[in-house]
Amino acid sequence: MYRNHSNGELRLTNAGEQVTLSGWVQKIRDKGFMVWIDLRDRYGLTQLIFDSERSDADMVEQARNLGREDVIQIRGEVIEREAKNPNMATGEIEILVSELNVLNKAKTPPFTIENETDGGDELRMKFRYLDIRRTPVRENLIFRSTVTMEVRNYLSGHGFIDVETPYLIKSTPEGARDFVVPSRMNEGQFYALPQSPQTFKQLLMVGGLDKYFQIVKCFRDEDLRADRQPEFTQIDCEMAFVEQEDILNTFEGLVRHLLKEIKGVEIDEFPRMTYEEAMRTYGNDKPDIRFEMKFGELNDLAQNKGFGVFDSQELVVGIAAPGCAGYSRKQLDALIDYVKKPQIGAKGLIWAKYAEDGSFKSSVDKFFSQEDLKSWADRLGAKPGDLMLVMAGEKDKTRGQLSDLRMHLAETLGLRDPNVFAPLWILDFPLLEWDEETKRYHAMHHPFTSPKPEDVALLEKDPGKVRANAYDMVLNGNEIGGGSIRIHDREMQSRMFDLLGFSKEEALAQFGFLMSAFEYGAPPHGGIAFGLDRLVAILGGQETIRDFIAFPKNNAGRDVMIDAPSPIDEAQLEELNLKIVKGE
Ligand code: AMO
Repeated sequence: MYRNHSNGELRLTNAGEQVTLSGWVQKIRDKGFMVWIDLRDRYGLTQLIFDSERSDADMVEQARNLGREDVIQIRGEVIEREAKNPNMATGEIEILVSELNVLNKAKTPPFTIENETDGGDELRMKFRYLDIRRTPVRENLIFRSTVTMEVRNYLSGHGFIDVETPYLIKSTPEGARDFVVPSRMNEGQFYALPQSPQTFKQLLMVGGLDKYFQIVKCFRDEDLRADRQPEFTQIDCEMAFVEQEDILNTFEGLVRHLLKEIKGVEIDEFPRMTYEEAMRTYGNDKPDIRFEMKFGELNDLAQNKGFGVFDSQELVVGIAAPGCAGYSRKQLDALIDYVKKPQIGAKGLIWAKYAEDGSFKSSVDKFFSQEDLKSWADRLGAKPGDLMLVMAGEKDKTRGQLSDLRMHLAETLGLRDPNVFAPLWILDFPLLEWDEETKRYHAMHHPFTSPKPEDVALLEKDPGKVRANAYDMVLNGNEIGGGSIRIHDREMQSRMFDLLGFSKEEALAQFGFLMSAFEYGAPPHGGIAFGLDRLVAILGGQETIRDFIAFPKNNAGRDVMIDAPSPIDEAQLEELNLKIVKGE
C-alpha cells in the first residue's frame, strides 16, 4: 500500500498513530542532526522530521540528499509539533519518520513549484504538468470540477438528459472559421469540427428527447483573447415545447443554483434589459452592472452652443465618474490618452468637474455656462465631487468608445469587485446584422434563430429592424451564455437562408438535413449554451479562462507543451491525398 492517509488530513487527534504517506518533496530544511521535509500531494502538505537521535542515521543521510520534487513514500509516527503553524491545516503535527522509500527521483524543476512561482507564462505552459502541481492551478481545476458537478446536478434534477453528439461533422455556422479534418476514405473531402452542436441538438428535439444537455467541446478558428480559446467547453442545452420565458426561467434557475451552492450568494434581482437599452445606457451588449456610471445622451443640451466639435455629431454622450472631481491635470490627460489609443480610436474627451461647492470647471468653459453644465450633471446623474466625461461622434462607435472608458474607470476605481455577482439577461437582439465588407446581412446569433412573430412582416421590407427571440446571459460584464427560440418550420427556415444570401442549392447542400427534419413533425423548441470556461473563471473571481483549463493553448493557438500544431510527414499527407503548396 502506497499510503493510508493523504498529506492534508492528519491532525493532533492522530498523534501516536503509525502512518504511511506518499508524495512529492516540496522543501528540505537541513539542520545537521535533523532534517525537515514538506511532503506534498493534491490534498496538502505534511511536515516530516528525520532525526538522527531517534531514527536510523543512514536514513537521515538519505533524506538530506533528496531533491525537490522527488517522489517518496515514508512510514512514521504522528507526533505533536513543538513550533506549531496555525496557517497550515496539518500545522499542529509532524511525522517522525522511521522508513524512507524513494519511489522516483526528479530532475530539478525549471521553476519553483510553490504558490508564488518564478516561472514565466511560456515556461509554465511548456511544463504544464509541473504547473498543475502548484496549489493555485490545482485549486482552479478542482473548482471547475465542482462547478461542472453542480451543473449536472441541476440539469439532471430538471429532467435534462446528457447526449453526446459527433465531433466529425460539417460546418455549423456560429460566426467563426471552421477547423477542418481531411477524410482519408473520402478523397478530397473534409469534416469540420463543430463550432457548437447547434443543429444536432435541434435534431434531438425533432427526435423527441424533449430536454437535452451536454458539456461539450466546441472548436472555433478565431482570434484569441483572454476570454477565448480555439477549443472551449459549452454547457449546451435545448428544450422542446418552450417559449422564451420558459428558457429564461430554467436557466436563471441554473445560475441561481450555482451562485448559491458554490459561492453561497443568493441573487434577489435578476434584471432583464433589451439590447437597445443596453446599447443606449452602457454602450455595450454585455454591461457590467456591478456599478452605475450609466450613459446620458446630451445632444439636446450640448449642441448648438457654439462648440463646433459637438454640433455636427450624431451623438453626444457622457458618464459621471464618482468621486473623481479632484483629478489632476495629469490624471485627466491620462484619460484622454486612453481614449485616443488606436484600440479605442476616439478623437478626444471633454471633461467637467462638479466641485463639492456645486460649481463646475470644465475643458469647455468657453462654450458652456454653469447652468449648461448643471443640466449635463442632472442628465448624467452626477453629484458634487464627480467628474463628467463626454464624447461625441458617430453613434455606434462613440458608444463603444465610452463603454471602454467606463470599464477602464471602473477598473481604476476598484468598482469591479470579484466577490459581487451581477447577472442579467439581454433580450430582443436584432435578428440580422449588416456587414459592410460583404454587403450582406449576417445572422447576429445564428441562422436558426426565429424572428419575433410581431416583426415577421418586416423581414423583407426592413430586415435590419427585425428583432429575434434571442437572449444572452451576462455576468459581471462578460457574455457567459447565449441562445434563442428556433425556427421549426421549413418555410421560415428557407426564407431565412434567402435573406442571408444563400442560394436555394447552397442552403439545401449545407442544411438540407435540417430542413427535411422540419417536415417530419418538428416541435417548437429553443435553447441556450453557456461558456463553461468563462462561467468557471468568473465564479472563481477571474476573467482569464486559460487559468481554468488544464491544457490551454497560447495566444497563437499553440500547445507549447506537445508542440501542436506541427507538420505531418509525407506518407501521412499522401494517404490523405493532400499536398502542401508553398506560397510564392
Ligand atoms: P454562442 O456562439 O453565443 O452560442 O456561444 C455560447 C457561449 O460560449 C462561449 N464562447 C466561448 N468561450 C470561450 N472561447 C470561445 N472561443 C468562445 N466562443 C463562445 C460564450 C458564449 O456565450 N449554438 C449557440 C447556442 C444556442 O443558440 O443555443 C452558440 O454556440 O460564453
